[in-house]
Amino acid sequence: MAHALSPEEIRDVNTRYHDVAAGHYDAKWGIDFGDLGLEQVTAKIAKALGEPRPATFARALEIGSGTGYFSLNLLRAGIIEEATCSDISPGMLAALRANAQRLGLEVRTEQADAERLPFADESFDLVFGHAVLHHIPDLPRAFAEFARVLAPGGRIAFAGEPSRYGDRIARVPKRLAGAAAPVWRRAIGARPAPPAEGGAPDAALEAVVDVHAFAPGELSAAAQEAGFQDVHVSGEELLANWFGWTNRTLEATADPFDVPWAWRQYAYRGYLLLQGLDRRLLEQRLPPAIFYNLMITARVPGA
Ligand SMILES: C[S@@+](CC[C@H](N)C(=O)[O-])C[C@H]1O[C@@H](n2cnc3c(N)ncnc32)[C@H](O)[C@@H]1O
Repeated sequence: MAHALSPEEIRDVNTRYHDVAAGHYDAKWGIDFGDLGLEQVTAKIAKALGEPRPATFARALEIGSGTGYFSLNLLRAGIIEEATCSDISPGMLAALRANAQRLGLEVRTEQADAERLPFADESFDLVFGHAVLHHIPDLPRAFAEFARVLAPGGRIAFAGEPSRYGDRIARVPKRLAGAAAPVWRRAIGARPAPPAEGGAPDAALEAVVDVHAFAPGELSAAAQEAGFQDVHVSGEELLANWFGWTNRTLEATADPFDVPWAWRQYAYRGYLLLQGLDRRLLEQRLPPAIFYNLMITARVPGA
């Protein structure tokens, strides 16, 4: 379906879809601005950059910043000093400003398409993003923009990009969980999920807004073609993702009020446990392609 649309239409659907999603985005995805969010985001950016303790970046630009999960937590962690948050969706940026105000953080927001950044050449030290590259129709053009706005020696770090093979592998637990859902609901005493109000526009539009799932080589090629050096792609989350998607698929079939607290604790703690196992045992040893998420870092030539 995505291929039937022009790049302009994909950008337009992305804007409208995320404007609608903005109101319930943090609740839906468990976006957290407490200790857990700070820990998760710091660990992800450190992993993407390939540095256990990342340096501080003075001027940072986030692409597709959504409601501020990465920028606001990175400001709190002191990894970035000045945050410019860009997104194609004004609704997302409004939610981000509300989150920043609540947390007492200062940010600059700019509605912008990643392929046409309204910033001067060489104006940032870090360009980063989470779960955004797979929405961008013309990736080479976006990487060229990232290179243009970075100062000499500046870095990119992108995380949370769907891997093509990892996504295929993850369909197995999703399918099994779908089949097991009626038995699971009976076991926990939950009623089936009520129909979504006004249908489920999210699900219908998801196939349109997600325009890529990447092989690692495609991401590195896009960076290299834009003139980046020291390009490195890594993978994260395998067991944690299978576990997470199994539970998410089961939970989506039940009335949220009937899902017991003990189950939610098990799902949450189990995910963190397996995330630790992935990090310690698998991510260093297995090829990036089989993980669910890909990360990329690179630098522009210069100082
Ligand atoms: C999956 S959300 C991720 C949001 C946020 N980074 C996070 O991790 O919570 C993707 C974001 O990318 C934005 N986006 C989609 N297409 C874009 C484009 N062409 N240029 C800039 N942002 C875009 C969407 O509006 C949305 O806020």
